[in-house]
Amino acid sequence: MQEDQIHHRRASEIEELSKLTGHLAHEIKNPLSTIKVNLKLISEDIDGNDQKSARALKKIAVVQKETDRVEQILENFLRYIGKPELRIIETDINELINDMIDFYAPQAHSHLIVIRPSLYEAPLICRVDLDTLKQVILNLFINAQQAMTGPGELIIRTSKLQNFATITISDTGSGIDRQGLTKIFTPYYSSKPAGSGLGLSIAKKVIDAHKGTIKVDSEPGKGTAFTIQLPLKM
Ligand SMILES: Nc1ncnc2c1ncn2[C@@H]1O[C@H](COP(=O)(O)OP(=O)(O)OP(=O)(O)O)[C@@H](O)[C@H]1O
Ligand SMILES: [Mg+2]
Repeated sequence: MQEDQIHHRRASEIEELSKLTGHLAHEIKNPLSTIKVNLKLISEDIDGNDQKSARALKKIAVVQKETDRVEQILENFLRYIGKPELRIIETDINELINDMIDFYAPQAHSHLIVIRPSLYEAPLICRVDLDTLKQVILNLFINAQQAMTGPGELIIRTSKLQNFATITISDTGSGIDRQGLTKIFTPYYSSKPAGSGLGLSIAKKVIDAHKGTIKVDSEPGKGTAFTIQLPLKM
């Protein structure tokens, strides 16, 4: 079989599998919501005045927390396998970045992170899905924040390179070692106790869908830089 035929077959197998697993995830979500509603009703029926019912309420709370977790896992999975439906509009990337900086500034401040923006002098007009792209940028900010345990800097640059708008988000955090660099865009890879490990995989999918690229550069102990390139509107 020719290489492109193999590639094509593999792509349709993956698509088929995504459909099946997506269906499975949806199917699990339905009984899960029934479980959640009934747990709530049960807990409302119990008055927690005596010790026994107080104990029961505690156990119900544990089950509720775990069902929330299952729901979150399913939603993340569906978000990852779903084809991003893009609502494309013409946007100035500088404006988008400025909005994101305004939005994130209070959180940065509370984590002792100084934001250093350096934006290209002219508008960088790209055709993008605003909400989805904002989500990607926010995820990169949060990853940077989580990599900086103490005070740090978040350097945000935009520039123009040939027919592309470039966004670089750099931090002065822990950095990523060589082995980590090979895994960070793999779904479910996370070095964090409560991380889903889907943030960067989804980011890559979204940027791919915009016909752009996302790359990483990192030095352990010094920091990390993510660079996104998006085609400029011609
Ligand atoms: N700025 C960064 N500095 C250091 N390591 C990073 C940075 N960004 C990502 N990583 C590494 O890449 C891994 C994958 O990141 P990703 O955003 O996909 O998932 P996560 O952050 O672990 O989980 P979630 O995004 O669901 O909270 C992280 O666990 C971390 O090890
Ligand atoms: Mg993340």
